[in-house]
Amino acid sequence: MRRTRIRTAAVVTAVLTGIATAVSAPAGAASDRPWMNTAQSPDARAHELLAAMTVDEELAMVHGTGVGTYVGVVPGNARLGIPAINLEDGPAGVADGMTNVTAFPAPITMAAAWDPDLARRYGAAMGAEERGKGANVHLAPMVNILRVPQGGRNWESLGEDPYLAGRLAAAEVGGQQSEGVIATVKHYADNNQENDRRNVSVQVDERTQHEIYYPAFNAAVRAGAGAVMCSYNKIGGTYACENPGSLGDLKKQMGFRGWVMSDWGATHSTVPAATAGLDQEMPGATYFGAPLATAVQSGQVPRARLDDMVLRILRSMFAVGLFDRTDYGNPAVDVRSDAHTALARQIAEAGTVLLKNAHAALPITKAAKSIAVIGTDAKDKPQAVGGGSGHVIASHVVTPYDGIAARAGSGVDVTYTPGDSAGDAGIAAAVEQAKKSDVAVVFAGITSSEGSDRTDLALPGNLDQLISAVAAANPRTIVVLNTPAQVLMPWVDQVSGVVESWLPGQEMGGAIADVLFGDADPSGRLPMTFGAKAVDYPANTAEQYPGVNHVEQYAEGLNVGYRHFDRAGIAPLFPFGHGLSYTSFRYGKLAVDGHRVDFTVTNTGKRAGTAVPQLYLGFPTSAGEPPKSLKAFTRLNLKPGESRRVTLNLPPGAFQVWDTAHHRWATPKGTYHVYVGASSGDVRLTGTMRVS
Ligand code: BGC
Repeated sequence: MRRTRIRTAAVVTAVLTGIATAVSAPAGAASDRPWMNTAQSPDARAHELLAAMTVDEELAMVHGTGVGTYVGVVPGNARLGIPAINLEDGPAGVADGMTNVTAFPAPITMAAAWDPDLARRYGAAMGAEERGKGANVHLAPMVNILRVPQGGRNWESLGEDPYLAGRLAAAEVGGQQSEGVIATVKHYADNNQENDRRNVSVQVDERTQHEIYYPAFNAAVRAGAGAVMCSYNKIGGTYACENPGSLGDLKKQMGFRGWVMSDWGATHSTVPAATAGLDQEMPGATYFGAPLATAVQSGQVPRARLDDMVLRILRSMFAVGLFDRTDYGNPAVDVRSDAHTALARQIAEAGTVLLKNAHAALPITKAAKSIAVIGTDAKDKPQAVGGGSGHVIASHVVTPYDGIAARAGSGVDVTYTPGDSAGDAGIAAAVEQAKKSDVAVVFAGITSSEGSDRTDLALPGNLDQLISAVAAANPRTIVVLNTPAQVLMPWVDQVSGVVESWLPGQEMGGAIADVLFGDADPSGRLPMTFGAKAVDYPANTAEQYPGVNHVEQYAEGLNVGYRHFDRAGIAPLFPFGHGLSYTSFRYGKLAVDGHRVDFTVTNTGKRAGTAVPQLYLGFPTSAGEPPKSLKAFTRLNLKPGESRRVTLNLPPGAFQVWDTAHHRWATPKGTYHVYVGASSGDVRLTGTMRVS
């Protein structure tokens, strides 16, 4: 949806709605409302309530009533005590124009922390804020695989790898729903770009669909997500919201028991959509209002299908306790808290990736008496959040300049030079300042938004020239990137250090300072491959991206992200999984026993630090898989000299590939290669494993 909404009137209505909801829901004695007996399962309660509903009451639940107080609303039912369903974005915190909320780091920053526990806490904190605002369906997480680096919504994603995205999505869903809001996994499926998203038909082969684009949805479904949002695009010529193939896979193969809502305006029909498996039209009633009533009456849509839609919605509502509370929150509540602010900073810090650190240029030590902070992204226009439906209104942003100045303290001269005024004058001023300073830190960023992709992968404006000029003037030049995903770095060999902290939310300055000054070990790892050149990425023909005549071929198949770089033998600029620490780690003593892998990681440096060991599997050649795929990882905090034995158990699913001939999972037999290391490009230990 476009985010130009008037909020003031909405807030007033919201307060009223909130009150109405709170009064209607808990009323009624247990005898005439057996579904209020909390000793029963959500499923049993949903069946009991469904049995009490008229067909009109059922029809009222399967569509929204337009964008109002929340971005989606299904009014409550006072007769039966069904609470209103209030749907609200989004993946980085409460969005859609609400204020007094926490602007959390972007999901891609969270993903870069490679930390399921942090993902769970991220989900829980955002869930609590949604609930406080009166929303009970949280339109997140967004798990579309980062397929093309320019994708406008990459910042909302969990990166390019299905296993990493799935682990994090499952944890996040658990967190959201623990706070009593329904998680909505989106956008199902193959919504991997913004350009032409409402028309493009994705042609993806069945194996790739199951191995690359479905797994994160599957993981979130297995974690109990209550809702899934189908996407705008077509899949194989049929809109995702009326696609019997993909919706059938979701409900039958993955066993999804929650409901499928359409993306906003992504419903295109009544009978085909209803029979394919769409359960709710959002945000209005164009196809699932009167036309659905007619179709049910005529039998074109069986009554049983309508019952199933409603049952699915009710079951998810019961499962998170929507019927069992008295306080429903409302938009006027200030949902911020010290704990959420601290979490926002912790995630921003944990997701900051140290890409390059020549001659130990970082961390900045006490010896640095003057620091030139350069670039408008450092102060005047910090890139903290992304745009579109996921845009969160930050009540404040701790800018990078603020963070650095506060940490450096009064004994250090911290200057700010925007570097961007007309012509070369801005660059000249930055160069002058860099020359006079012990360290130069250039901030370079770009944000992106729902609705369109970035036009190319270059940093905007004069940033490349600015960085090169500053690097030539000061040998200790550090570049801090705030970007939604990959950018090109033509200056990478000229600078001492490169840090990527994505779109880190309102606490960005403190988090970046923590890492620059070494108060925190940089523990972020790349959730995507950075290529040296634009043509190095897998989808680089027009047929592959953005598509020709609204048809897009996912011709790279399984070779998305590092799978492509590995297969094509292209050295990435920075590999998937990469991220430096201020200490160093030794990997040793690999032991493979059945499907269990043990190894030892030792901190060989002088500082405490975080290692993120990653396990990749190479399938038997006959399986036709990419050279290696991530199957397990962990995070370890190690003191100087400390060693830790790590055990990673691979579940049966780790060895499966999709068998297109039989439309099911199969386990290729033979010898598997085990790769353990610090990134997909930094394998430290290898072994083999037999599957028979
Ligand atoms: C976006 C969804 C979002 C919805 C409601 C759509 O434009 O694609 O991600 O949840 O709007 O705002």
